[in-house]
Amino acid sequence: MKSTITTSLTITITITTLIIIFSFFQPILSSPKPTNPFPKQALPTKSGYLPINHTSTSSIFFTFYEAQNSSSPLSQTPLLFWLQGGPGCSSMLANFYELGPWRVTKSLTLQPNPAAWNRIFGLVFLDSPIGTGFSIAASLQEIPTDQNGVAKHLFNAITRFVQLDPVFKNRPIYITGESYAGKYVPALGYYILKKNEKVDGSKRVNLAGVAIGDGLTDPVTQVVTHAANAYYVGLINERQRIELEKAQEEAVWLAKSGNWSEATDARNRVLGTLGNMTGLATLYDYTRKVPYEDDLVAQFLNLTEAKRALGVNESFVYEVCSDVVGAVLHADVMKSVKHKVEELVKRSRVLLYQGQHDLRDGVVQTEAWVKTLKWEGIGEFLNADRKIWKVNGEIAGYVQNWKSLTNVVVLGAGHLLPTDQPVNSQAMIEDWVLERDLGEIELSALAMSLEELYSISNIVCEDEEFLISSAFPFKSLTGSSALQACF
Ligand SMILES: *[C@@H]1O[C@H](CO)[C@@H](O)[C@H](O)[C@H]1NC(C)=O
Ligand SMILES: *[C@@H]1O[C@H](CO)[C@@H](O)[C@H](O)[C@H]1NC(C)=O
Ligand SMILES: *[C@@H]1O[C@H](CO)[C@@H](O)[C@H](O)[C@H]1NC(C)=O
Ligand SMILES: *[C@@H]1O[C@H](CO)[C@@H](O)[C@H](O)[C@H]1NC(C)=O
Ligand SMILES: *[C@@H]1O[C@H](CO)[C@@H](O)[C@H](O)[C@H]1NC(C)=O
Ligand SMILES: *[C@@H]1O[C@H](CO)[C@@H](O)[C@H](O)[C@H]1NC(C)=O
Repeated sequence: MKSTITTSLTITITITTLIIIFSFFQPILSSPKPTNPFPKQALPTKSGYLPINHTSTSSIFFTFYEAQNSSSPLSQTPLLFWLQGGPGCSSMLANFYELGPWRVTKSLTLQPNPAAWNRIFGLVFLDSPIGTGFSIAASLQEIPTDQNGVAKHLFNAITRFVQLDPVFKNRPIYITGESYAGKYVPALGYYILKKNEKVDGSKRVNLAGVAIGDGLTDPVTQVVTHAANAYYVGLINERQRIELEKAQEEAVWLAKSGNWSEATDARNRVLGTLGNMTGLATLYDYTRKVPYEDDLVAQFLNLTEAKRALGVNESFVYEVCSDVVGAVLHADVMKSVKHKVEELVKRSRVLLYQGQHDLRDGVVQTEAWVKTLKWEGIGEFLNADRKIWKVNGEIAGYVQNWKSLTNVVVLGAGHLLPTDQPVNSQAMIEDWVLERDLGEIELSALAMSLEELYSISNIVCEDEEFLISSAFPFKSLTGSSALQACF
């Protein structure tokens, strides 16, 4: 023990000496300047802070990337707002690791993402709730403890964002997010619907739809699916399944008796037990040999150059997920927002999508609550065909749709779906937002006549071999309501 201390002391002194020597000689050595980790082209169109209200100094950090190549005038180009999960995780994770125009590399530089979600839409990442990522919480007490509080701050931030530039004023707004944002997205969407009823036209938020990826939305229904899911995937045996089911029932019981914080702990035990039983690298994707490397984002955004580029105080210590915010919302985790989805599916459009390999908030967990939706179209939705969806000739997944509700299963993806399937995730979001059919068409087909295209588009969704291209502006060509979108 003692010798270890002595050795490490010696090493420390040696290193310190080396550092001093190196610092002294550095101006002379003047090694070639390392490349800027944050090149100018990678700067967001805008970034900064949006106050949550007039009296508080708490504010929500955002990065905004204008559409790279919109086919519509910018004043009409959809604006997508992205919310990360957690609770307490920063949307910079999606920005720099999933769907933003530049992604962080292992050497902590940025490289362009050819499948960014801002190809044809404006894209805004919000660090929410306050206290998350680069967002500022004036005090612990101001961090919201429930979904209505989170939504209220977000509503104010979005309203403020739209006022930043006249070009934002009338653009259709889509609220999107992942994982625990399966709570925030419906909560904000619902808040907007309610608020819009009370304010006059110019103050309304132009909500056009909401999208939830691998979401936690109706936790009590979702938590009881893990055992069967893992069992049928072949990851646990019957005895383990029964053990896990007992743990699941405990989470349900605690939630039903209103012991919300304990219910969250119980859910964590379910997932912890499943992790231990299976020995998987991560439950976010059962095919992964190593977990997602989201830590790269933390390392990158902790660089002075990165903070400077984003206009953040250089003394800010960045964390991808805030334990403080996680603790404040701990008792909220098991509470459902399903009724808010029911309102949104009636009055807006809803996209749900999951990566096939996600064992936490994946396909099975989503199916479980969706079939319990109280909505007049639910019967038709559940009876609708599950279409085979192809991108560039390969199966990308499956799409089920009825009117305002669409559910997509993305193959070969886990929880961070746009990281795993960038191109397919881009095709998915673009087609859903533009109400185009998902599918494929050979590039040569674009040279076909309008008549030929029209005849194909009529049988779209009826025959999976003939799905129309996601790159094809089909709606504007035909404008026919007979063309029931499968997306
Ligand atoms: C931009 O979009 C047009 C069609 O709208 C396309 O022809 C062009 O290749 C696109 N450019 C880039 C850089 O994606
Ligand atoms: C501003 O937000 C904080 C935190 O939610 C809250 O305590 C305060 O009452 C709000 N002020 C107004 C005027 O709404
Ligand atoms: C659940 O809550 C009740 C009422 O607050 C309390 O009496 C009970 O001890 C709690 N049970 C557990 C397991 O925490
Ligand atoms: C999983 O295993 C670890 C390491 O043995 C242990 O500390 C933890 O308590 C286990 N989790 C559960 C929920 O059993
Ligand atoms: C962030 O940077 C500070 C100062 O350079 C350093 O002390 C800290 O360890 C860094 N944290 C991470 C997660 O990189
Ligand atoms: C940056 O943060 C430090 C520490 O919180 C604070 O003293 C300083 O005033 C801040 N700088 C600016 C420009 O806000």
